[in-house]
Amino acid sequence: MSRITRKDEHILSALKLEPQPQVSGFGDITLVHNALPEISENEVTLDTMLLGRQISAPIVINAITGGGSVPAKINEAFAIAARETGLAMAVGSQSVALERPEAEKSFRIVRKINPGGMVLANVGANLRPEDALRAVEMINADALQVYLNVPQEAVMKDGDRDFRGWTANISRLVNICPVPVIIKEVGFGISREVARRLHDIGVEHFDVGGRGGTNFISIECIRNDGRQRALETWGITTAASLIEIESSNLATTIMATGGLASGLDAAKALALGANAAGIAGAYLKTLFESNTDGLIRRIENMKADLKKVLLMLGVKSPREMNKVPAVISGKTREWLAERGIETRSFSCRPWSV
Ligand SMILES: Cc1cc2nc3c(=O)[nH]c(=O)nc-3n(C[C@H](O)[C@H](O)[C@H](O)COP(=O)(O)O)c2cc1C
Repeated sequence: MSRITRKDEHILSALKLEPQPQVSGFGDITLVHNALPEISENEVTLDTMLLGRQISAPIVINAITGGGSVPAKINEAFAIAARETGLAMAVGSQSVALERPEAEKSFRIVRKINPGGMVLANVGANLRPEDALRAVEMINADALQVYLNVPQEAVMKDGDRDFRGWTANISRLVNICPVPVIIKEVGFGISREVARRLHDIGVEHFDVGGRGGTNFISIECIRNDGRQRALETWGITTAASLIEIESSNLATTIMATGGLASGLDAAKALALGANAAGIAGAYLKTLFESNTDGLIRRIENMKADLKKVLLMLGVKSPREMNKVPAVISGKTREWLAERGIETRSFSCRPWSV
């Protein structure tokens, strides 16, 4: 099956996935309300820096697509939404365009529509570093996402089965890439052990891509008539993965992706140490249900909610969010306790306005 067809199938299957809001672990996080915030709404801004670029909110439309004509339309719509709302945006895997130059336009359209915006290139961890640089050039990207997707490949009927050499490949890439390199998972999370190994070879930027949102094992179940259902609970939740990496002090930048869907989710991610929240599946669904205008409305509503959370906490900018107390309970707390990560440093922060 060609890669373009596979991408179309992934999109259609992702649209069929039922949201499972309790899985990401964000339900276990409560931000401590500040009943006396001593702040005016017009002092609150969502403007923030991400990887050296200013964006108008700490939210990223995360990697989904590119390749054929449907992916080109989706990228066009996401690029318009990113331009209109000032968000950063990642394209989907560019391997298809590196093999077939006629697919390039489905990625280049993003830069054409949003010439001044923050755009992230996207390649797999086994791609030759020289080709990864071509992906960056293709869209004049501000940063490069490199994805780790072993579970997805392992369960895919025609997926890869040999995952050797990725660490050495990433190490070479980090050394030669002229823009920041973000290592991202696609929905199964990154442990602190893996983050440490990546940090040792020079990786400073992570997108935890945890469990709780788009689940590529479930997507493969839809494509394969239910085979592999028993593996659907695989992975580290987004909240646990984020706290593992944050509390290890390994990262300069952390993006939190995996089941985030609201301004409150984004606020919780920031409080747990993320620099930005990434959203893929939820925006894809909105785009299919309500077109580009509906997506823009959803993003603006999410930004408005995020701003209200900052206001209710007495916080003036996203940068300050990692000072507010965040109580971690339930399964996420159990996980962290078992992993030897103490949670009081989050819940007892001495925040005062
Ligand atoms: C249809 C679809 C295609 C995706 N393709 C890519 C891809 O090409 N490269 C990548 O790094 N991540 C890809 N992802 C993963 C997302 O970027 C994100 O990490 C993951 O979906 C978890 O976020 P979510 O729960 O908000 O969807 C894709 C996601 C979806 C829904």
